[in-house]
Parts: sequence; structure tokens; C-alpha cells
Amino acid sequence: MVDLGRAVLVRAPATTANLGPGFDALGMALDWYEEAECALSTDGWVVRVSGPGAGAVPRGPDNLAARGARAVLAAAGRPHAALRIALRLSVPVGRGLGSSAAAVAAGVVAADALLGAGLPPEELVRLATEVEGHPDNVAPAILGGLCASCVAAGGARVLSVRLPPPPGLEALAAIPDAVLRTAVARSVLPAAVPFADAVANVQRACLLVAGLAAGRTDVLAEATCDRLHQPYRAPLVPGLLGCLDAVRAAGAPGVFLSGAGPSILALVPAGPSPVRAAVEGILHDHLRAHGGGAVRRLGLAARGAHVVERRAPA
Ligand code: HSE
Repeated sequence: MVDLGRAVLVRAPATTANLGPGFDALGMALDWYEEAECALSTDGWVVRVSGPGAGAVPRGPDNLAARGARAVLAAAGRPHAALRIALRLSVPVGRGLGSSAAAVAAGVVAADALLGAGLPPEELVRLATEVEGHPDNVAPAILGGLCASCVAAGGARVLSVRLPPPPGLEALAAIPDAVLRTAVARSVLPAAVPFADAVANVQRACLLVAGLAAGRTDVLAEATCDRLHQPYRAPLVPGLLGCLDAVRAAGAPGVFLSGAGPSILALVPAGPSPVRAAVEGILHDHLRAHGGGAVRRLGLAARGAHVVERRAPA
């Protein structure tokens, strides 16, 4: 039986990670949401999943929303409590748009709200990072905006600094029909990289954050270039490097592989413009030539996971 007196509806945003050079560090929330309706359960864990790709998502306590919730329950001293979760997927799974992080974020925020635990946001990010393995998606999925994150003290601390989403920009995502599992996209990364490549990425990641903080969108095209992961992942995403070059040449302020891919995300001026139209055309051509998919316009989201509805005690 479920205690319906303590039910919450939580919405958690999709995210794009890395933003090119900021591998496992940078991420930004997008205006596209997963929803989870959660309540304390006296019947153990009950997880239902609906929406696109639901068939591939685990039910029960191994579900990512449940794992996020369990981390909070344990941290709040209620390790034996359980939740009933109805997760409604909307962000496609395995496309590099943070569907896993959104599920984890929904779980941690829901459990925190249901228990009235009031854990600080940085603790929610740390717990979510433990579940997800790296902070770049979960930080903006919880805090919203654009986050720079760092795992410290062997995982005992996660430092995240949030910036508001850059004004005047929106995202265009080329989302292939094909799935690319993050584990596969990480397995092709080398154990070591040339020092010059590391330096190039440090320069660009720093320029990206400083440029965004200062409103200097003119530096973003160069600042979103990467030498640490995209070149190694290119064989898994046919047409990637040519598409990035074409989008940059069309005048997009920034373009990169979204997270581990296979989606490509371009930053363009918000609203209709010749640049947006040209970039949309390039992204459509890329998808048509490489197995199909959809191009989607996405706003940049200021808000991370939050409770949108709280049921009053019956
Ligand atoms: N930083 C991660 C990666 C994001 O690129 O592998 C995907 O979860």
C-alpha cells in the first residue's frame, strides 16, 4: 500500500555534457523534461516506466530514479524506506542527452522532498554523482543552467558552480535513431593523450567558461573544439567530424558531440535567423546520410529537477 499523503511529481531536465572540451566537467540543462511521480511505499519498491524506450529501462530498485532515491534515503538515515515511482520518459535513452541523469536527478529530488530531508543541493549532486559515475550531467540536471563540476577527495566531495544559461542562444540537437551506449563510447577512449592535446582542451574549456560568464559568444566556436574525446569517438558516430566542421562554417556559435553521443548539439542564436536555418539544414543532411533521426530545437533551461506538484496529506 502506498502512502498517497506523501506524493510528489518531479520534473528533471535533459542535459548536454562536455560542451566539447569539458569532458566529465561541463554540462548544461535543456528545456526537455522527464517526469517522475513518487510516493513513499509500504509495499517495497514499485517502479513503473512509460514512454519511448521504456522497454529497455530496468524496473525495481535498480532503476536509475530508484537508485538516486535510495542514495538519499540512506544519506537521510532511512535506508529501509521504499518508494513507488512512476517514471515517464520523454528524453530518448542512449542518445547523449542525459536521460539517465534526469532519472537519477528526479529520484534524489523526489526522495529528499518526500522525507522532508532538506539536503543541500551540493549533497544531492554528490549523491547523484555516486550513482551516475561522473558529475557533468547530474549537476545541471539538479541545479539547472550551465555547471562546471569537479570530483574531489576521491568522490567524498563534488564541487559544482552554476552559471545561468547563456542568454540569446538556443540549441539544435541532431538526434540519431541509433543508440550509442555510454559504456561503449567510453571504452574507445585512450588511457593517455598527447600533452599538447590536453593543453588545447584546458585552453578551450577555460575560454568556454570565461566566455560564457562574460557574454562573449564570439569565442564559443573555437572554445567548443575538443581533442580529448570527440576524435576517438568519431568512428562510432559516422559523419561526426564533417558535420561539426560544416556547422561551424555556417556560423554557429558552438557545436559538439552531446555527452557521449551520438547526438550532435549546436548552439545557435535564439529565434529565426539565417544561421539557424543553415545549421538545421546541415543537421538534417547529416542524419539523412547516416541512418536517420530527428532535429529538435531546445531552449536552455535555468531550472534543474524540481517538485511541480505536492499532494497534501489525505
Ligand atoms: N562525460 C560523459 C562522457 C558524458 O562523455 O562519457 C556521458 O555520460
